[in-house]
Amino acid sequence: STKTYSLNNGAVIPAIGLGTWRATNEGDAQRAVAAAIVAGYRHIDAAWAYGNEKEVGVGIKEGLAATGLERKDIFVTTKLWGTFHHDPEAALDISLERLGLDYVDQYMMHWPVALNPNGKGAETGFPVLPSGKRDILLDWSFVKSYENLQKTVVSGKAKAIGVSNFSIKNLKTLLAAETTKIKPICNQVEAHPYLPQPKLLAYCKSEDILITAYSPLGSIDSPLLQDETVVAIAKKNGVSVAQVLISWALWRGTAVLPKSVSAARIASNLQVFELSNEDGEALNQISVTKGSQRLISPDWSPVVIFEDED
Ligand code: A2P
Repeated sequence: STKTYSLNNGAVIPAIGLGTWRATNEGDAQRAVAAAIVAGYRHIDAAWAYGNEKEVGVGIKEGLAATGLERKDIFVTTKLWGTFHHDPEAALDISLERLGLDYVDQYMMHWPVALNPNGKGAETGFPVLPSGKRDILLDWSFVKSYENLQKTVVSGKAKAIGVSNFSIKNLKTLLAAETTKIKPICNQVEAHPYLPQPKLLAYCKSEDILITAYSPLGSIDSPLLQDETVVAIAKKNGVSVAQVLISWALWRGTAVLPKSVSAARIASNLQVFELSNEDGEALNQISVTKGSQRLISPDWSPVVIFEDED
């Protein structure tokens, strides 16, 4: 698919991007990114916390060389980790160095919580309290983090900024803040037929913020791949279950970030089809009937992150 979305800053984002979370075996991220660009992907989603930005960067270089494309032809996102909320510019410098890039198309706040940069284990990015929960700065607001994040646009190191794992409540707080001058272009959240988040989707559409769906296939050990409704729709259309899930994400107007480290699956995940409204509605109906289910739980957080789920 070469489908794109127009963003609230006038830029354009390819609707399907390659996810790189959990592409952590040595060489996996590099090969996946290069294979994706060769297969036609023009959007790569990375993060400091995934621990593979260096490989993603080499993969981008290889993919561009193999296709004759230029840096400007692809959309690259990376994300600000919680231990750097006091200094996003410094964190982005590290990410750019690892990626081998001089700018990203989008720099995204990974979570609306700041982690203690001086906590036990902070150097790994995952400071912990004696309880085993993550060491979060309880007196710090993501509004302040976002104020700092905006500096990366002013310096030109990020073409745009976005947020991730933001609920409606947190988005409203962010957008209402006096210090928020640059609107986030995207809100990247878990989204698939078991967690469609229709209210969040409607709210983001009303604010012209694009929802980008992570774990669209349900990540590892996904129950979605065996779901009888999804399987039946795949069979009926003569496509794979993954192609149904990715096509549904596009049908409902979100960008989507399927992750794979297999060149064959990477290529097939780009071969989406136009879902009929009937099939789309049937997929929407799954969570109405069975209730919605978060497959990636933020159970590591001592504070509630998603307070207004449908
Ligand atoms: P692999 O990387 O070995 O291909 P999500 O995008 O929801 O995070 O899901 C990623 C998971 O789904 C990974 O385990 C990935 O495994 C697997 N996966 C990716 N593409 C497909 C596909 N087309 N069919 C089946 N499983 C897939």
